[in-house]
Amino acid sequence: MNFHKPHSLASAVDTVIKKRRTFKVMGDFNAPTPIPKGFAQRIEQAMKVAGEAPYHYPANAIHLNSAMDSPVPWRFYALQQNDCLNLAEHLIANGDVSSEQAGIIRMLSAAGTLVLTTWLPEPSTLPEIITEHKNTEHIAAASAAIQNLLLAATARNVQTYWSSGGALGGKTCYDLCGIAPREKLLGAIFMFPQAAVRSSKAKPGSLHDKRGDPDQWRTWRTLSPVKPIRYTA
Ligand SMILES: Cc1cc2nc3c(=O)[nH]c(=O)nc-3n(C[C@H](O)[C@H](O)[C@H](O)COP(=O)(O)O)c2cc1C
Repeated sequence: MNFHKPHSLASAVDTVIKKRRTFKVMGDFNAPTPIPKGFAQRIEQAMKVAGEAPYHYPANAIHLNSAMDSPVPWRFYALQQNDCLNLAEHLIANGDVSSEQAGIIRMLSAAGTLVLTTWLPEPSTLPEIITEHKNTEHIAAASAAIQNLLLAATARNVQTYWSSGGALGGKTCYDLCGIAPREKLLGAIFMFPQAAVRSSKAKPGSLHDKRGDPDQWRTWRTLSPVKPIRYTA
């Protein structure tokens, strides 16, 4: 990394943060969206770098008994297009969703990749106050990993959508994807090719333009010293 150009680094990061935004792309189950070559490789790179997120507490040992035994308190389960379509078929066949017209099915039909992201709760054997604190921090860390993933995907020209998941948090999807029931779904991250956004009636995030001005959520405080300040920089 070139640290001699701090302004260009800051500007690149700012640009990606501002460029990230939600678009829900609705596809057609019977005519899935064309996915460009190399799309999954871009997501693979994005997932790997997203794992650099901060985390405070290692995941509890109950979560470390499989091949995915990292202490980070999140897990990514990625599905390529064909597997998204298989999942859609199973959800319909199993009655988890009403029809091919359901929003989740239409998005699975437009997605190049879906990244189901779980966080790893503490067992309830510890005192509640400790469990609650650790779980809050696990969710915070897993959320940081998701935001990293959204930004890394955005930087690779991939359109993203963080969904709570709905039916994707249910038993059908968990069983199919081999996700342990003790893990909790934090986000179903849809990854769409940019061309699909342009060619469809993609829905933006309803709250995108409602966050207001920074003055509405950030302030600087000035505090009086206990003793008069003797030295100034
Ligand atoms: C934890 C979380 C869960 C979300 N779940 C949903 C969801 O289930 N459905 C939805 O339409 N948007 C969902 N969103 C996306 C928000 O609608 C979107 O971020 C918001 O409208 C702001 O738009 P922006 O992402 O373009 O800035 C979720 C976002 C977060 C952070």
